[in-house]
Amino acid sequence: MNFHVMTLFPEMIERAMGESITGRAIKAGHISVNAVNIRDFANNKHNRVDDYPYGGGAGMVMQAEPVYQCYESICRSIGNSRPRVVFMTPQGRTFNQQMAEELSREEDLILLCGHYEGIDERVLNRIVTDNVSIGDYVLTGGELPAMVMIDAISRKVSGVLGNDDSSEIETFYDNLLEYPQYTRPEVFDGERVPDVLMSGHHANIDKWRREKSLERTYDFRPDLLENANLTDKDLAYLEKYARSKENN
Ligand code: ADE
Repeated sequence: MNFHVMTLFPEMIERAMGESITGRAIKAGHISVNAVNIRDFANNKHNRVDDYPYGGGAGMVMQAEPVYQCYESICRSIGNSRPRVVFMTPQGRTFNQQMAEELSREEDLILLCGHYEGIDERVLNRIVTDNVSIGDYVLTGGELPAMVMIDAISRKVSGVLGNDDSSEIETFYDNLLEYPQYTRPEVFDGERVPDVLMSGHHANIDKWRREKSLERTYDFRPDLLENANLTDKDLAYLEKYARSKENN
């Protein structure tokens, strides 16, 4: 999968994405991250890409033309195809795991990072297909949100995590939080690893993990349970768990 990031700070994207798991995925050719500097498409000798807002008000607005030329240049570089264009904005739909999975099926994806007070509406209307926020707070620019999206989407691209299983049973899989994990030593600060995990009995381990997932989701994110795929057994377990908490 190929990410194309339209930004005023390409080094910020390339440096960070070149590290750790995304960095390895780039080297292995599972993904590419191409950060394109919008400033390279400025049409004046001072390389300015922003100007005062019509109607007055605080801050500067990014101009339509350089953003549009940057977009056209990216499309030309990929055989004139027109991939989805995600505009990073706190006004967008809130990013979640389901969106990460859906977007990971795209061959190319353009991420547009704004700065200053925003981008001229006319170019947004012409190129943006998806408005996405990473949460209800305002950041200084779209670069961190774009990197959050690239990270979460990349994990769902085949080959990136090595073991294709390791992203299957994880937090948000099926709208449940993941069960707790333990590793050596068997005893830490007087606390033993739960016996069932040492038993080698896989059916019991699976059952215990499912129950812990249900408990955690009930405790930390009960809102998720509404859309979780729960069996009659799960529901019975949750009822029992809820009653046991009431009595404590
Ligand atoms: N740009 C500024 N704040 C943002 C947010 N919360 N999500 C996406 N883009 C942003």
